[in-house]
Formats: sequence, structure tokens, C-alpha cells
Amino acid sequence: MISIEDITADPPGEGVVVDPMAWFASRGPFELEIGCGKGGFLLSRAKDNPDIRMLGIEWANKYYRYAADRMARWQLTNVRVMRTDATHFVANHLPPGCVSVLHVYHPDPWPKKRHHKRRLFQPRFVADAIRALAPGGKWLFQSDHDEYFAEAYALLSAQAELTETDWDALGVAPGPEWQGTNFEIKFARAGSSIHRAAYIRQGTDSD
Ligand SMILES: C[S@@+](CC[C@H](N)C(=O)[O-])C[C@H]1O[C@@H](n2cnc3c(N)ncnc32)[C@H](O)[C@@H]1O
Repeated sequence: MISIEDITADPPGEGVVVDPMAWFASRGPFELEIGCGKGGFLLSRAKDNPDIRMLGIEWANKYYRYAADRMARWQLTNVRVMRTDATHFVANHLPPGCVSVLHVYHPDPWPKKRHHKRRLFQPRFVADAIRALAPGGKWLFQSDHDEYFAEAYALLSAQAELTETDWDALGVAPGPEWQGTNFEIKFARAGSSIHRAAYIRQGTDSD
């Protein structure tokens, strides 16, 4: 019987670099979702792909608990949820090249100019995330916010290690029955365009 305690992973102590695969009984590629919210995508991806291991990071305690409870109710063994600041976690606690797919869907846009510095997509974060991606690893990013998407798209597209690729050709998107993440559904209903971009990290294992 999987309990919520089995699903949750504690944030590592200062200076600790984790081995994410040690959290799981079986092997398989490791995927990370940043800002998983209530865990709709995380659940769908982990449930449909028992051969991958997934970590969802969520800062808001309410959503973190909600997501973890959801995974436990589905008795999933291939998913963990952590409550922490993903920026700090990616920069300090992930070994290089461990992430096969990075999912970032509808990161908070912080629309006021004076709050832009709180946005996830900053040069430092992008460099840290690229370091955590495996060679050939994929990065999927989606947003309903025109201006933030354009800014993040420009930043990602300027990275020499990343090559933009066709989202649908990656084979990572859920099947046709997928309705979208909570924010995707909410903003699509309100008439917003949903922008998507996908990248592959260049390089070989010896990089
Ligand atoms: C707009 S919501 C999108 C949630 C979900 N991805 C979706 O599409 O429905 C953004 C989420 O990212 C979380 N978040 C923002 N900054 C974060 C950070 N630095 N680390 C972890 N989670 C973060 C917020 O708490 C929030 O739940």
C-alpha cells in the first residue's frame, strides 16, 4: 500500500547532491516537472509510462499536498513530489546529466515589471537546467502568457546547447484524451493562446 509519505521526497540538506534514481525500486529514465501544481500532468505522465521515474517539484504547500495525495491514491510507484524551490534544487542538488525530460508548464508570469526578477526563466536557471539535462534530453515549455513566453523563448533559443524541435515529434505529449494542465484548461477557456516550445540538449555522454 503506497502512502502519501512514500510519494513525498524531502528537500535535500545544504550541499547534498541527490541520486534521484535511488528513490525508486526500478530503473528507467528520470523526468522532472517544475511547478507541478495539483499534479494533473505528473499523474497522467507517470500513470501512462510506468517505465519512467518522475519528480514533481511544487513550492505551494497546498498544491504539493494535493498532488502527493493524488499520486498515492493511484498507488503510483514511479513518481515523487517534493516541496521546495525548484530553482535552488536544480542549481544545487541535481547531478549533471540526470534529467531525460524537463517539463515546465505555465510558470508564474509575474506580470508586474518590478516582479520580473521572480520569474523562473532567468539566465542562471536556464544554465543550471541545461547542466541537469542529459545529452539528448528534452525540455518542454508551455505558457499562456504572451510576453513571458516570448522572453523565455528568446532565452532558450539563444542557448548553444539547445536545439529547438517539433513538440509533437518528441513523443512526450500525452495522448488525445489529455485535456491539459489546470492552467492550460483555465486559460484556453478564457480565450488565451497556449504557446509551446520544445528543445533537445545537444552533446554526448562524455561532455
Ligand atoms: C501557474 S501555476 C501552473 C501549475 C501547473 N503546471 C499547471 O499548468 O496547471 C505555477 C506553479 O508553479 C509553482 N512554482 C512557482 N515557482 C516555483 C519554484 N521556484 N519552485 C517550485 N514551484 C514553483 C507555483 O506554486 C504554482 O503552483
